Amino acid sequence: MKLILLGPPGAGKGTQANYIKSKYNIVQLSTGDMLRTAVNSMSELGLKANEIMKSGGLVDDDIIISMIEERLSKSSDCQNGFILDGFPRTLKQAKALDIMLSKLNKSLDSVIHIKVEEDLLVRRISGRFTCDECGEGYNDYYKKTKIDGICDKCGNDSFIRRADDNEKTFSLRVRSYIEQTEPLIPFYDKKKLLKTIDGSLEFKEVKDSIDAILDKL
Ligand code: AP5
Repeated sequence: MKLILLGPPGAGKGTQANYIKSKYNIVQLSTGDMLRTAVNSMSELGLKANEIMKSGGLVDDDIIISMIEERLSKSSDCQNGFILDGFPRTLKQAKALDIMLSKLNKSLDSVIHIKVEEDLLVRRISGRFTCDECGEGYNDYYKKTKIDGICDKCGNDSFIRRADDNEKTFSLRVRSYIEQTEPLIPFYDKKKLLKTIDGSLEFKEVKDSIDAILDKL
């Protein structure tokens, strides 16, 4: 199964990718996570990406394309299938993905567009926090820890919030999404790959809509 999850910041791409990867035993390729790893390691790429991510802009297409190309062509864990979470984000990236996949003799099965209105996204983004030990995700408004300040999964008591999860950067991230990523909606619609779901519903209802699409593949 080869999927793209498309949607604005906070739509629930990471949350749903996490569910799909366990259910179907496929890998999640999140360009945002890859970039944050580079930022934490203070590599050359990380230092460059950090400034762009903090400004709500998009990292250079060529850097992102070669990052994904390397992962798709060299790692055996993608053989079973993959979920692209946060990639492609521009038409240039989408066209490069087509070329990459045809070289590998692969094709996409579906592009799931998770649609959520902007006012709800701000709340989701501003409430998001993650356990800094096991990475379990929580939210002040939608998914609190059972015991205040303690991770349900591993018992750790320290959490992190993303540097770009603030209102100012969020509105710039939304602008980047509208200007550079939304054109992918008609692009994949023309290829008859696009399925749009209502991402403003509860976690389980969004998951059920995704299952309904994936069950038919
Ligand atoms: P990235 O990490 O990809 O961020 P994003 O696209 O802005 O998406 P998010 O991770 O913020 O949101 P999400 O949709 O995954 O939501 P989540 O499931 O966490 O990219 C970060 C930056 O890296 C970019 O701005 C850019 O600079 C750079 N970058 C990355 N990829 C790039 C590329 N391809 N090209 C160029 N630059 C790139 O959910 C959010 C919150 O809502 C969570 O707390 C969750 O618990 C909650 N939630 C989820 N679903 C629901 C629900 N149904 N009901 C209630 N709450 C919910």
